Amino acid sequence: MKLIIADSYEAASLEASKILLEQIKENPSSHLGLATGSTPLKLYEYMVADFKENGTSYKDIKSFNLDEYFGLEGTHPQSYRYFMMENLFNHVDILPENIHVPAGQGDIQENCDAYNAMLATEGVDLQLLGIGSNGHIGFNEPGTPFTQVTHCIELEEGTRQDNARLFFDGNIDEVPTHAVTMGIKNIMDSKKVLLMAFGENKAEPIRVLVEGEVSVDVPASVLQNHPDVTIIIDKAAASKLTKK
Ligand code: GLP
Repeated sequence: MKLIIADSYEAASLEASKILLEQIKENPSSHLGLATGSTPLKLYEYMVADFKENGTSYKDIKSFNLDEYFGLEGTHPQSYRYFMMENLFNHVDILPENIHVPAGQGDIQENCDAYNAMLATEGVDLQLLGIGSNGHIGFNEPGTPFTQVTHCIELEEGTRQDNARLFFDGNIDEVPTHAVTMGIKNIMDSKKVLLMAFGENKAEPIRVLVEGEVSVDVPASVLQNHPDVTIIIDKAAASKLTKK
């Protein structure tokens, strides 16, 4: 596990963008596992800026997003598909057919089976992750077995509160109660993992992830068992680490 403690959100995001761009340059047909939430917003800004300035192409890139809210159409402004279109995909040359986001509507079991089959065939080269204040990755809430693949899950109240703070106009009642998410097993199957976390409310899950016990109580702790993980955090998220 490689840990980078950056001076600021901007510096951390720039560092993360270098890792993603290096991946794309090394293998222009990379399969990227992508994440949503407030954490990667700046990173995506840097990716878009790079595309405009340097033209790094996404025409052979395939993307596989981690999760989607249950019940939201991809055109809903709070859906994760919409988030990805707005913050990255509409601004680079990725092909629409190469964009994959779990479907939050329709026959959910069928959709999950299809997403799992696709991930098993395609594989992810680099998986980008944020982390929930309860230690979730994707939407794998505490207690999710490490063997789990893409599935529909009930969100914890705290997760819905966290997500209402910056999205959904601050209204928790608007936040769906369930989501479809890649499972821990899908995440662990990716060749490389890049996890980002900022702010004091991430300090405790980051402590457990970096130096705590591996347990389903803090799902991100499973990454201790992954062979190639880079963690980029700011000082606030690093504030509970004891081993310097
Ligand atoms: C959300 C997403 C995760 C994200 C995490 C942190 O609920 N499902 O993929 O990493 O929670 O969100 P944020 O980046 O807004 O702190």
